[in-house]
Amino acid sequence: MTIDGHLARIREVRHRLAGEGPVWTRQRDKDFEVVTLPERDCDLLRDLFIAERVETVVEVGLAYASSALAIGEALVAVDRPRPRHVIVDPFQRTVWSDVGWELMRSAGLEPIASLLTEWSSIALPQLVTAGLVVDAAFVDGSHRFHEVFVDLYFLRKLVRPGGLVVLDDTGWPSVGTAVRYYERNLGWAAIPDAFAGGTPDRCRAFRLPDSLTEPPFEQFQPF
Ligand SMILES: C[S@@+](CC[C@H](N)C(=O)[O-])C[C@H]1O[C@@H](n2cnc3c(N)ncnc32)[C@H](O)[C@@H]1O
Repeated sequence: MTIDGHLARIREVRHRLAGEGPVWTRQRDKDFEVVTLPERDCDLLRDLFIAERVETVVEVGLAYASSALAIGEALVAVDRPRPRHVIVDPFQRTVWSDVGWELMRSAGLEPIASLLTEWSSIALPQLVTAGLVVDAAFVDGSHRFHEVFVDLYFLRKLVRPGGLVVLDDTGWPSVGTAVRYYERNLGWAAIPDAFAGGTPDRCRAFRLPDSLTEPPFEQFQPF
């Protein structure tokens, strides 16, 4: 398949998912609309990752795969030599009946994507130990403060210096407070207009500092 052919296939899967919803959802009112990243925000995420020319991405939280398909589209569009998309979701096979992973397969993204069905607090340190280094991460997993905080702790070691971490639902106090620690204490710089025109209080992008240096113990800014 040509790159243009593959991109057309991914866009068709994304378009159908956004318009008609997935073939299966949990038995909850408007579950797809509540859970998944809106199409406009997905487009902005894709465009940001294309502008960054990302080759490797870690994503936390697959669910209905709207964001994963957008990231896959970016990786195919950028066309670097070794694209890799590592997705972590402990509940994809159980709670989500594999619906997101099947969408990734139907978009032809299986060769570049892999799914780890572990909690991110277990999978991310394993990836650090394995020596993985990525260009960017997208975080939309557990929204409990301590779990987001731990995700960011390990992503700081997985994302290369100068790379990007993007979070969804930053308007949630738990998510917003977790990332504020990294912003105030560890030099993560918000990219102000990355999600201009997107859903308010949702995605924010941060650029990591150019080196991974640890601050002195005394240098702590309350967050
Ligand atoms: C809001 S949904 C993600 C929505 C997805 N970005 C989309 O566009 O459809 C949150 C996901 O995080 C997963 N999740 C919950 N706890 C997690 C954990 N500890 N580690 C990794 N993923 C987790 C859930 O199973 C769910 O799939």
